[in-house]
Amino acid sequence: MMIETVLSPVSPESLAMAGKLFREGQIVAFPTETVYGLGAWAMSREGIRRIYEAKGRPSDNPLIVHVAPGMSLEGLAGEIPEKAKILMEKFWPGPLTMIFPKGDRILPEVTGGLDTVAIRMPSHPVAMKLIESCGLPIVAPSANTSGRPSPTTAQHVLEDLSGKVPLILDGGPCSVGLESTIVDLTGEVPMILRPGAITEEMLQEALGEVTVDPAVAAAVSLAKDIKPKAPGMKYRHYAPKGRLIITDYPAGDIASWIREDEKLPGEKLGLIGSSEWLDEIMNHLAESHEDQNICRIDLGKREDKQQIAAALFDALRRADETGLTKMYGEAFAREDLGEAIMNRFLKASSERRFIKR
Ligand code: TXA
Ligand code: MG
Repeated sequence: MMIETVLSPVSPESLAMAGKLFREGQIVAFPTETVYGLGAWAMSREGIRRIYEAKGRPSDNPLIVHVAPGMSLEGLAGEIPEKAKILMEKFWPGPLTMIFPKGDRILPEVTGGLDTVAIRMPSHPVAMKLIESCGLPIVAPSANTSGRPSPTTAQHVLEDLSGKVPLILDGGPCSVGLESTIVDLTGEVPMILRPGAITEEMLQEALGEVTVDPAVAAAVSLAKDIKPKAPGMKYRHYAPKGRLIITDYPAGDIASWIREDEKLPGEKLGLIGSSEWLDEIMNHLAESHEDQNICRIDLGKREDKQQIAAALFDALRRADETGLTKMYGEAFAREDLGEAIMNRFLKASSERRFIKR
């Protein structure tokens, strides 16, 4: 069923409208510091059903419950381990989701039948104000169509969900640009299920020993036999329609691949990487006077990892808009925020050409 979608700036009126829609079992898209979320009141079966329907999301993929500062976790989490308290103190509000034993107020529809629940307290002022002002815990997956890159602008949400959501609150581009770190605190040793802006190093510094779900370390998209602990991590995500080859080969090699590709009719070629990487490759191509009809998608300066993270999902969407059939992507160093960047970039890829394993 198609409905009218209103794209609205954030105002007292639009926030009040969002609160009213939540109470009526409706869904609303809103900005968070990571990506835009598609929210519903966590206690509304109708709202939850609408989320899965609008996203086309498999029902075994559970939702994150979003709370505001000062809101009690009573009934949401069944138990709050000591280590979770440390992390809340240090990283909430912020881009960190924690897995708890589920509380008795959590509907089975939220957790996809699991006996644990994911909870996060976003730091984006609009998300905070929205949850605070309606006083309700809000479940919110990323506000994209299932399988597409997560939305980092209100425009991205509109691209995917126009006619499927009554209200999108426009709070401008998201500052982090990658989904929250997910850490499971239900076991002995905390385990990272999804890397994000709160890095392994930051968690170790706060807690001591931390492990990483082996499915994350193996970069799940190519190792299908390892089952990730966060159900959503098993799906191929973000993939552009064209072939995306992630590589750490030197610019000269990539330039020679491109020269070969250009002989093939009908290929629309692209490059996705840092400004420096794009320049190096283009310099090599210029030397041999090759035509430069290659779409360059610039993620920003290589050392500015935050900028690169914030630009990545938009870049993947632009690759489709431009109709690229084949593109090369830069392999970034998998350290600090680079781990989360590469987790998403590799998930989007169809092939990797690595010298270093
Ligand atoms: O940054 C974010 O977390 C964004 C914004 C909107 O807050 N939300 C988001 O939600 O990324 P979503 O639904 O796109 O991703 C949630 C992930 C999925 O991979 C899901 O499988 C996992 O969290 N998850 C949810 N509940 C879980 C649970 N109880 N145990 C393990 N994984 C869980
Ligand atoms: Mg998602």
